[in-house]
Order: sequence, then C-alpha cells, then structure tokens
Amino acid sequence: MDFDLKTNEKGNLTIGGTDALELADQYKTPLYVIDEERIKYNYKRLYTAFSSYYSDFKIFYACKANTNLAVMKILENEGSGIDAVSPGEIYTSLLAGFEPSRILYTGNNVTDEELKFAVKSGVRINLDSVSQLKRLSKIPEAKGTKISFRVNPMVGAGHHDHCITGGPLSKFGIMEEEAVDVYKMAKDLGFKPIGIHTHIGSGIINPEPFMLAVRTLMDISGKVKEGADVKFDFIDFGGGIGIPYTPEERKLDIKDFAEKITTLYQDKLSEYDLGKPSMCLEPGRYLVGDASVLLTRVNTIKQSYRKFAGVDAGFNTLLRPTMYGSYHHIVLAEKPLAEPTQKIDIAGDVCESGDLFARDRSMPEVKEGDLLAILNAGAYAFSMSSQYNSRPKAAEVLVSKDVSNIIRERETFADLLTKQNVPVRLLK
Ligand code: LLP
Repeated sequence: MDFDLKTNEKGNLTIGGTDALELADQYKTPLYVIDEERIKYNYKRLYTAFSSYYSDFKIFYACKANTNLAVMKILENEGSGIDAVSPGEIYTSLLAGFEPSRILYTGNNVTDEELKFAVKSGVRINLDSVSQLKRLSKIPEAKGTKISFRVNPMVGAGHHDHCITGGPLSKFGIMEEEAVDVYKMAKDLGFKPIGIHTHIGSGIINPEPFMLAVRTLMDISGKVKEGADVKFDFIDFGGGIGIPYTPEERKLDIKDFAEKITTLYQDKLSEYDLGKPSMCLEPGRYLVGDASVLLTRVNTIKQSYRKFAGVDAGFNTLLRPTMYGSYHHIVLAEKPLAEPTQKIDIAGDVCESGDLFARDRSMPEVKEGDLLAILNAGAYAFSMSSQYNSRPKAAEVLVSKDVSNIIRERETFADLLTKQNVPVRLLK
C-alpha cells in the first residue's frame, strides 16, 4: 500500500500532525483537510527530479484540481506557475499572487470576451484552434501577446475515457498535419508564437504513453521550427501524472520518469537543433491529490438487501466515484490500520442511487457515529463539488505542523439562495 497513513499515540489518523477526530469535532463534517507540508513536498519532489536533469524546468500548477487561494498561495511561494483554463482561474491566480507571465491560459471553445479578458490580464495564451487564432487577431490589444498552440499528438491516456484528451476522439488541440501552417498563419497575423503544448490525459501511472507523447510533440516541434521558422521559448507536455488510489497501485518512480523524459527531450532538442527552451509540465493531481482527505461521519448503518454505511457527504462533495467509477480508499479515522472484517457499501446522502463512495468495500466494523476518512481527496474534489440537493458546500481546513486554519468556510443555507430572484408578480 503506497498511502502515507500516520497515526498518533491514540491510534487515530493524523493529517499534518493533527488528530482527524479533533478536526472533525472542531470544524464539523463533511470536511476537506489539506496538508500544507505534503503539497510542498510533492512540488519539491517533482521539481528536483526534473530540474536535476534539465535545469530550465518549469511547473505550471493545473489549478482546476483545487483553486483554493491558500493552496494556490502555497504553490506560488514554492515558485510554481499556473495552468488556467478559464477567466475565473486567471482571476483567482492573479489574486493568489501569480505574475501574469507565469500563467498559461489554455481554454477550449472560448468566447471572444474570454479571449479579451486573457489579453487584458497579460497572461500567455495557448490556442486550441484556428478559430481562436483568427478571433484573437481581431482584438487590437492582442498584438504582442505571447502565444503557443496546443497540439493533439494522437496519443491519449488516462484513468477513464472522460479523462483522455489526445487521440482521434478528442476535442482538444490542433492536428499534427496542420501545425506548420497554423504557426505560419500566426506569424502572418503578426503574432510571435513562442511555445508548443500538449496534454494527453489525466491519471497516467504508466510512463509509456507519456513518453510517446513527448517524442511526438518533439517531432512536431522540429517540423514547426523548420517549416515555419519558429524559435521555441518553451515546450509544455501538460499534466496527467497519476497517483495511486487503490492499495495495489504503486507510485510512479518520479526520478526514473524524469530521467527518461528529460533524456528524450534533450536528444530531440539536439536532433532538431531546437536550442534550449524551458521544459514545462502542468501537474494538478500530482501536487495536491494525496495532500487531502475528506472526513465524513457515518450516520446510518442499514441492513437492507445489502449492508450500507450511510455518511454525511455525497457526490455533491466528491464526484469522482460516481462520475468515473473512481476508487478512493476509505479508512476509519479511529483505527486507520484495522483489518477488514466485512464487505459493505458506503453510500452518500444524495437522493440518487449512483451516490456511492464504494460498493462491496472491505472494511473493519463500522458503527453509527464513526468518522471515515476518504483518502486522496485533494484533486478534483472540492473543485467539482456542487450544491445539488440544496446542500451547502463543505469547509476546507489547512493543517501544518499541528496548526489548523479554516481556508474555506462551510456554506450556509443563505449561500444556497444568493443570486436568486423571485419576480414580484409571483409574490402575493
Ligand atoms: N493541463 C491541462 C491542459 C489539463 O486539461 C489538465 C487536466 C491538466 C493539465 C492537469 O491534469 P492532472 O495533472 O491533474 O492529471 N476531473 C478528472 C480530471 C480531469 C483533468 C482535466 N484536465 C478527475 O477527477 O480525475
């Protein structure tokens, strides 16, 4: 099992040195608890692995994984840049203190207004289609904006079909065949393209498809350099590095991965005489995924046709199991290392049958009132949460060296109603 479960003298699960049971008592449940030191450790681990082989290495945190300002600030302090996919993410990143030059905006199917917002913000724009390029060229202030293109290298990988973003079915990027012409067109329109980008999918534990994407993007970069006379300042391979979610999965050997990718990168730089552009990655999950647990309290044990433990969170709080069938390991906060004695379904509180965190999960005895910790809830958990069933969104707490701070307050019923208006004619 590649999970880093820590306990205290009482045997209780601790997160960032703090007792999970105490956190649940203090801040109530459901509660996302985020470990600051773990985020820093993940960043350093990745940065050191790659930069020791290729010094001009840059990380652009894919903030869609978790846009809490405190989380973003931690990564800003570490020296990260940002991969932003929407004006909202640009806005949040600027507020978190990221310099516009360290924000790469990769939108897809963007409106003219969104392009204008990105231009005004001064961020780098990574274009996804010829349509975007043409529309960008009509914005007078866009002259001088640093641009790049996202290319579909016809390689895809990911933990679920929804998370594969390269290959023939993908809506993302321009085609390899059109790359040279698109870069030429960008130059003809007065732009200075300085980068090239790809992102083949999310949740990749096997290095092979990633290596193939690197090889392909480098070959495309070589063609674009030759055919369109482009000098690249950066080459960006996107995000996608997976983390273990099941006890059987193993962590990717990041040093070995870094060595393989950077060796290939440097070989291809020399092969095509591409100079020494920055090498960029856009990890989301790798940086924050295992830095958080979702604490949820069991309120109902029910023996129906099956045995259920009903908890006070649901797919409004953590969508991944319902949306992708994703496995999230679940432990009893009081005895995280206890041996399983039964198989049980762990069900949420949303009125849909698909609202299950686990089916037939091997668990120790679970009682009403017990606290469960759902692991690896740092990426795509809060950021994909909703108010479905009129449930206020849960709180987020940041822990570091025995100190805990609330970094997002629990929503109230009033928050469910902000922005709503009832037309006067309906009021009697
Ligand atoms: N760069 C781009 C352009 C992306 O679209 C993404 C993720 C990333 C970087 C970061 O990927 P990561 O390193 O986190 O794998 N909701 C899904 C994941 C969707 C990812 C979308 N794009 C999930 O919960 O698994």
